[in-house]
Amino acid sequence: MTGQVQGKVALVTGGASGIGEAVSELLAREGASVAVTDVDDLRGPAVVAGIKKAGGEAIFIHQDVTSEARWIEVVAEVEKRYGRLDILVSNAGIGISVPSITDMTLEDWRRQNAINLDGVFLSVKHCLPAMRKTGGGSIVMMSSLAGLRGAPGLSAYSATKGGVRLFAKSIAMECAAVGDGIRVNSVHPGIIDTPIWGKIPTEAAGRGQNAPIDPEERAKLATPLARAGHASEIAQGVLYLASDASSYVTGSELVIDGGMNAGGVPRRA
Ligand SMILES: NC(=O)c1ccc[n+]([C@@H]2O[C@H](COP(=O)([O-])OP(=O)(O)OC[C@H]3O[C@@H](n4cnc5c(N)ncnc54)[C@H](O)[C@@H]3O)[C@@H](O)[C@H]2O)c1
Repeated sequence: MTGQVQGKVALVTGGASGIGEAVSELLAREGASVAVTDVDDLRGPAVVAGIKKAGGEAIFIHQDVTSEARWIEVVAEVEKRYGRLDILVSNAGIGISVPSITDMTLEDWRRQNAINLDGVFLSVKHCLPAMRKTGGGSIVMMSSLAGLRGAPGLSAYSATKGGVRLFAKSIAMECAAVGDGIRVNSVHPGIIDTPIWGKIPTEAAGRGQNAPIDPEERAKLATPLARAGHASEIAQGVLYLASDASSYVTGSELVIDGGMNAGGVPRRA
């Protein structure tokens, strides 16, 4: 049986955990060779081992997305190994939360921007030339519901995700203008149950609580579908945008959020 991205080569940043892990696994299951990149040298190789065990093809490449020098090496390594690049999933990201923007240090603001925004810029700058050689392809940028709506305590994160949203549209227009066959879209997850929530500082969002944020508890109250999403549900959206099934889709934003962006619903007791 032919997979939905059979024979294509994909690069997924932040592929060692959560959404990136699910995306890497699904693209591999659907026939792509996947370069899984991450700073996590423990989980990254484990994700690749799992993909190979399931009969897929993948390699792990250590990468900090904020390093331009490393981007040049990573793209060269992917081309050397697989001979081409068709799909870029720019997914690596972190969330820094502070009770108030007045509490945010310039250092944290810059770190938030370096990973979530500089990293996405560098991914496109260095992957586009390789993708153009193949005559087409798909770039998927991981934004967030926080790139569409404000989120108290997460203003720096929101700023990066809003930036990613319009960066994707502008690159989509650049690619369309030169007719390189590359489509560019953003994905906007709502509350997804991944390890990211445990990494957000415990004074999270200024609610004075010390326990780590529980995404399921949060989503039950805030989401019309009354539950957190699974990373696999975001991966399905990425697969659609990465594959030829979305051949007429560019510059668009795919919201996968259990209905949060559409409005509120009265909660049943
Ligand atoms: N989980 C959610 O609810 C949610 C909602 C909206 C958007 N997102 C976005 O989805 C993306 C993936 O998040 P996740 O929930 O899977 O989080 P996660 O923490 O499980 O995974 C993120 C991965 O990125 C990697 N990473 C961090 N800094 C890096 C760097 N400098 N270079 C390379 N890799 C780096 C981490 O090591 C980790 O493996 C992020 O961009 C996040 O902002 C997540």
